[in-house]
Amino acid sequence: MRTPVIAGNWKMYLGQTEEALGFVRGIRQPLNEVDGVERVLCPPFTVLATVAEVLQATRIEVGAQTMHWEDQGAHTGEVSPRMLQDLCKYVIIGHSERRAAEANAETDAAVNKKVRAALAHGLIPILCVGENLAQNEAGQTEDFVGGQVRAALEGLGADEVRTCVIAYEPIWAIGTGKAATPADANRVMGVVVRGAVSQQFGEEAAQAARILYGGSVNVENIAGFMSMPEIDGALVGGASLKPDFVELVRRAAATRG
Ligand code: PGA
Repeated sequence: MRTPVIAGNWKMYLGQTEEALGFVRGIRQPLNEVDGVERVLCPPFTVLATVAEVLQATRIEVGAQTMHWEDQGAHTGEVSPRMLQDLCKYVIIGHSERRAAEANAETDAAVNKKVRAALAHGLIPILCVGENLAQNEAGQTEDFVGGQVRAALEGLGADEVRTCVIAYEPIWAIGTGKAATPADANRVMGVVVRGAVSQQFGEEAAQAARILYGGSVNVENIAGFMSMPEIDGALVGGASLKPDFVELVRRAAATRG
């Protein structure tokens, strides 16, 4: 049985100490009380250590939003897996906002190095994949997303892949209020994402890896996603910045429980 995960990706919000502390102190207790799902908060680097400290005595986990693949070096502005390994449990890798050419232009090859580095340091990668609107409309979703999964996991062992979290986030659904339908997401996640893992690493690893949906998940639609057999949770952006993130997590747990 796969334990569901609901991860809140704060992106470049709540990065000042007081605002982050205020928010986390407000949701900490009720969020900690929810059983049956893993909860992860992924704040900006500026408050990662602060948030981790405030959550120390809780069952709420912390994740980073990206990292470099090297332990140290001349990489101005980067954060390494060694810097993160004692600070958090998860790290988001290859978010579409970082893969974007006009942002950080992260390639599949870079994503692969990051996934390997995360696992080598005991961090659990939340690997993001997903097609854009043009690819979706051209019927290229399966080829593109399958290719991203294969490239990101290349060279790993099945024992590593089984511990990974993979987030299917169609780019057209991120921050738009236009979520995929649960049925469509379930199909891509099962046939394409889990299918690619199974082909490359075997069915046991594919059944163990957790696959999340991301893209305009909110308190109203979370139950629909969680009722799908291939959907093991959600990567939540905008809705993770509001106090009713707790209610979203509760509904996720209730749907699975
Ligand atoms: P959203 O973002 O929930 O605001 O659509 C999701 C994500 O980018 O992870």
